Amino acid sequence: MKKWWMNEIVYQIYPKSFKDSNNDGIGDINGITEKLDYLKDLGITMIWICPIFKSPMADNGYDISDFKDIDPQFGSMQDFEKLLRESKKVGIKILLDLVVNHTSDEHEWFKKALEDKNSKYKNYYIFKKGIDGQPPNNWRSIFGGSVWEKVDDEYYFHAFHKKQPDLNWENKEMREEIYAMINWWLEKGIAGFRIDSITFIKKDQDYSSLPSDGADGLVTCKHKTRNRPGIEHFLLELKEKTFAKYDALTVGEAPGVDYNDFTKYIGEDGYFSMIFDFKYADIDVESGTDWFKRTNWKVSDFKNKLFKSQEEIQKIGWSANFLENHDQPRVLSKLIKEPEFQNETAAKALAILLMTLRGVPFIYQGQELGMKNFVRNNIREFDDISSIDNYYRSIKEGFTEQEALNFINLRSRDNTRTPMLWNLEKGFGFSEAKPWIEYSNHNDGICSINNNVYDFYKKLISLKKESEYSELITFGKFSSIEIDKEAIICFSREYNNKKLLVFINLGAQEVNIEAPTKIKNVILNNYEDIKILDKKITMKPYQGIIVEVSNDKS
Ligand code: NOJ
Ligand code: CA
Repeated sequence: MKKWWMNEIVYQIYPKSFKDSNNDGIGDINGITEKLDYLKDLGITMIWICPIFKSPMADNGYDISDFKDIDPQFGSMQDFEKLLRESKKVGIKILLDLVVNHTSDEHEWFKKALEDKNSKYKNYYIFKKGIDGQPPNNWRSIFGGSVWEKVDDEYYFHAFHKKQPDLNWENKEMREEIYAMINWWLEKGIAGFRIDSITFIKKDQDYSSLPSDGADGLVTCKHKTRNRPGIEHFLLELKEKTFAKYDALTVGEAPGVDYNDFTKYIGEDGYFSMIFDFKYADIDVESGTDWFKRTNWKVSDFKNKLFKSQEEIQKIGWSANFLENHDQPRVLSKLIKEPEFQNETAAKALAILLMTLRGVPFIYQGQELGMKNFVRNNIREFDDISSIDNYYRSIKEGFTEQEALNFINLRSRDNTRTPMLWNLEKGFGFSEAKPWIEYSNHNDGICSINNNVYDFYKKLISLKKESEYSELITFGKFSSIEIDKEAIICFSREYNNKKLLVFINLGAQEVNIEAPTKIKNVILNNYEDIKILDKKITMKPYQGIIVEVSNDKS
């Protein structure tokens, strides 16, 4: 069944690094409002704004101390309401980030829980006694160290940072408060939410230890706290009491969900509209939390994972496609192995890929400029708590300091959190003040100061939104096509007797291939031209093309 959100094109904003309107070095809500024209010109239809709520910023806003207030760094509720009004005027909807697996330890609820042992708020969180002077079990938190933090004679649980105590979803009263808060935001007229860490809300109630999986003697908490049986009750209730009443768009951050369970998550009666599938995003590492476990991936591995994701989701629902976000490295640096090819051409090839897959594309700020990773030479230059943890864990696992630095340069979440490079003037159009985090090495950190990549994104967006191929690109059936060349990614999209093929050479060698069908016309190409003779195509390094073919198998 068609839904209103299926043809949205989303742009993700990391507010701290998007645009600083008052020159204090920190991006803010008014900065977003200032840039609405830019976003409208690009053609996107919706923005997802990472958390803007009151927060001590231990995890840059994913540690909320007041769900119903805006952090002063970002502005005020009036500023937000203005953004909501102004964005409506230009046809851009707003998704907010919903963080309800945990709060900040500076949230009123948690403070009251600590102050008074008999307070009802004690049961809003997870407190346990230690065993023989040790924490209740050996689980490792996502950001490293034990999931348990001691206060007085007991411990509280945190799947992420110790300043992010987990809420106790077993407690109905707590759940009801969360639902009321969600509805309060939906009443304001936002389109919906991206929902943070939502598969962590159910914990195995035995809280038992498991065999260790690292040099720290701990074991990742994921086995006992992520996608655990019983979560379905919480997720269904959450949907029914909130999102469903408003026909809101919801995108669950749900790594690790098995394809067999996708129906429950995003099927016709699923918990969410869409979920992010990380199986192809984390291609370069064995696990998104252990960056020192790098893979030696090949294009065919990436392609198989991406295609599997598309095909599995197509059977039951809608995809949320992304190549970058605020937790991932820049895609040019991640997927293009040869530094000399991390350029405009490759950025455009990746744009073709993202924009022609079946599902809603999510473009991350700066991706449309071809921004790249930075290289930092000292651990002190990193802000991201996950980078710092991975650095020290790598060393503990036996790697040298240089190796550890290399792992985090490749994966650091700071890579996508450096300020937007709006131009090459002083302050790069982001701020006149020193930014809260260092800019990336701008000369090398961006491949498109001349708007070439931006214009290409714009073209692709308009092709998807308002061309004769719109319906096809949005609703067309996805089919993978096997081309016997390692670096070639090829798939078709098909709708009402119209058919497109997408070819991407994700490699540095020129390759000759044979198309499965005769080509009618080339719709988009990231090179000046393309050599096609009947079905024979010569694909240059990182060349990407979209072609129309006749649908009659000739
Ligand atoms: C996932 C978010 O995307 C990430 O940035 C954050 O650190 C964790 N969840 C914890 O909220
Ligand atoms: Ca500011």
